[in-house]
Amino acid sequence: MNIILLGPPGAGKGTQARYLVDTRNMIQLSTGDMLREAKDSGTEMGKIVADVMARGDLVTDEIVIGLIREKLEGDKAGGFIFDGFPRTLAQADALAELLEEKGEKLDAVVEMQVDDAALVSRITGRSTCGDCGEVYHDETKPWPADGKCTNCGGTTQKRRADDNEDSLKQRLMEYYKKTSPLIGYYYAKGQLSSVDGLGEIDGVRAAISAILDA
Ligand code: AP5
Repeated sequence: MNIILLGPPGAGKGTQARYLVDTRNMIQLSTGDMLREAKDSGTEMGKIVADVMARGDLVTDEIVIGLIREKLEGDKAGGFIFDGFPRTLAQADALAELLEEKGEKLDAVVEMQVDDAALVSRITGRSTCGDCGEVYHDETKPWPADGKCTNCGGTTQKRRADDNEDSLKQRLMEYYKKTSPLIGYYYAKGQLSSVDGLGEIDGVRAAISAILDA
């Protein structure tokens, strides 16, 4: 099963993708994580994208499509979760072509609906485990008091450089200008389902599971 999690920054795509990886043996393909990895390891491409990401702008279609193409060559296990990809109509068309080349199809596009006011607090309160990537939030899922990640025991709490109000405004602007048209695109293709992303994490999980099991 191959699915897209679609939603604005902070909608909970990464949080839900991790759960699907654990419970359905799926592979999370987060273009944001891939780009951050390239940035941290100081590759040429990482240097090119660093400023773009810090500003909250989108990286070029060519770069992210190339990253996804490479990943589709590898193990597909229980299927792919596209998290943060596609983000433009050109990326959506490229994904359709890549899947077709591999004899694969897209089984569901899950739009996570969250109101903009909630996103500021979600983004500015977010941290992750530097070792396993478990996602935390200062209010709803605080970093453990003993300083150890509940998932892996790691002790490094990380915050993203673009998780501030200024970058978030730009990320939201990019989302509404370039990514939100994908909602209509997938609706017209008969592939779109929507969940209320404002509920408790477990409730959102259940809603997504119901769509995937239908
Ligand atoms: P990317 O890394 O994809 O970031 P994003 O889309 O902005 O999404 P986030 O990771 O910020 O949010 P999320 O929806 O995963 O939320 P999370 O689960 O963490 O992209 C970063 C940058 O890379 C882009 O700006 C762009 O520059 C570049 N880029 C990436 N892909 C690209 C592409 N395809 N094309 C071009 N450029 C690209 O949750 C957020 C917080 O909320 C957490 O603290 C979590 O604990 C909490 N939370 C989650 N769910 C709930 C809930 N139900 N209730 C309460 N709290 C919750």
